[in-house]
Amino acid sequence: MVNSGMGTGEVEVEVSAAEVFNRSKVPPFNITDKSQASDELRLKYRYLDLRRDSMQSNLRMRHDIAFKTREFLSGEDFIEVETPMLVRRTPEGARDYIVPSRLQPGRFYALPQSPQLYKQILMVSGVDKYFQLARCLRDEDLRADRQPEHTQIDIEMSFISESDIFPLAERLMKKIFSEVAGIELETPFPIIDYDEAMLKYGTDKPDLRFGLEISECSDIFRGSGFSAFASAVEKGGAVRGISWPGGTGQSKSQIKKLEKLVRGAGAGGLATLSIDENGVESPIAKFLGEGEISALLERFGASASSPSLILLVAGEVAVVEKSLGTLRTHLGAELVEGNSGMRFLWVNRFPLFVPSGSGGWEPAHHIFSMPLEADIPRIDTDPGAVRGHLYDLVCNGTELGSGSIRIHRRELQEKLFGVIGIGQEEAERKFGFLLEAFEYGAPPHGGIAIGVDRLAMIMAGESSIRDFIAFPKTQSATSLMEGAPSEIEEAILEELHIRVTERNKRE
Ligand code: AMO
Repeated sequence: MVNSGMGTGEVEVEVSAAEVFNRSKVPPFNITDKSQASDELRLKYRYLDLRRDSMQSNLRMRHDIAFKTREFLSGEDFIEVETPMLVRRTPEGARDYIVPSRLQPGRFYALPQSPQLYKQILMVSGVDKYFQLARCLRDEDLRADRQPEHTQIDIEMSFISESDIFPLAERLMKKIFSEVAGIELETPFPIIDYDEAMLKYGTDKPDLRFGLEISECSDIFRGSGFSAFASAVEKGGAVRGISWPGGTGQSKSQIKKLEKLVRGAGAGGLATLSIDENGVESPIAKFLGEGEISALLERFGASASSPSLILLVAGEVAVVEKSLGTLRTHLGAELVEGNSGMRFLWVNRFPLFVPSGSGGWEPAHHIFSMPLEADIPRIDTDPGAVRGHLYDLVCNGTELGSGSIRIHRRELQEKLFGVIGIGQEEAERKFGFLLEAFEYGAPPHGGIAIGVDRLAMIMAGESSIRDFIAFPKTQSATSLMEGAPSEIEEAILEELHIRVTERNKRE
């Protein structure tokens, strides 16, 4: 009966006596990696699901990541400082989880979305190198790479610039990938500006495992006889395209599917131009002059001997970026299947502000990031054009980390609050403690936070963080195992000075 394929397959036990410690019911699903159990069942019986080999190795991987992180950062002279879980509500992008105060009726704590303000304040306290494996809580809409609770490798340092923080994070990634997963990373990671990322890839988190770069073609169509394209350029929009070498010979219905995809992202349509040994074929050829066609072919390096399908979108710049970015990711999905490579990059100089729904501005990331020196004069005149020392660490199309060099002077911080409609009085009320701390010689500082759950997911080549969290929540932020959130006894609500006005309708 020897079976070397099983962990216990070569162990023989001779029994002289046996005692039953406990009995087991028949589990509701097969506890193997091949199990077809539904997600719901797996989450309800999470303690059984975690027995599977793959889940055990995921938990161990997570542990190893935390262990190597602490080892590395301690070795670099960082100290881990715990920051509070019951904090003052300070808006940071997502909705907060709120905790009622029993001792102070009508007052509430928030659970931290991240330790952002505390780590900045620690810089004022003379902790020059801080880190924390920090639990962060956000009441946001959930996706495969988003949970209500996540963990960050949270880092902050004084007297630094990007040229300190990037290499530090690279050394950390290199160590973790090598020692936890045996994956050797090449450093330094490429750095590109946000503007370039949007132009070339149509997204701020490009997957570099494949090419299919987007090319600007507006110059070719300025004043063109093809009025749809010419007018897009005239109105300040753009015409851009992707050359897809594997795309020649696509059927009409396949092209229709791609067109549906770009329309879904807001584009008015998708124009195609195919070139192979039979020549150029394009539904828009009749509108284009010889010069335009040859300029296009030259732009994309396509010819009879280097066949390709050129896919073009025209419209407002943001729409062109989004639709071609979506198209590029879609076409690339096939190219990366089975590709276990890790392609890291830094995307730097994000804009500080994006238009808010109500006609004003809101922070693109958070409001504590330092504008580029050259863009400071634009804060009052053209906030949308202000770029920051604000960066993301991206791997294989996923945002793994995010950080910035921070503002460390009160006046500049107040000015930025002003742009997003936070006046002096509100700033004082909500962020007075930070502004005051800046007045006691706050040093220049900056940092980054890298998502541990996403890191584990990427390292394992998976696409959902759920499998790397011992007790995750469902899409509706519930825990099926113990049934959270739950109702609470009236007596407790009373003690907390809370009256519930609406119960879950389904209940
Ligand atoms: P940010 O909000 O970009 O930055 O978060 C940093 C990283 O944390 C991870 N992450 C998440 N992982 C799982 N589920 C979520 N809901 C979730 N939200 C974020 C991502 C992300 O890149 N205070 C700043 C950091 C800084 O500026 O230093 C912050 O929290 O991997």
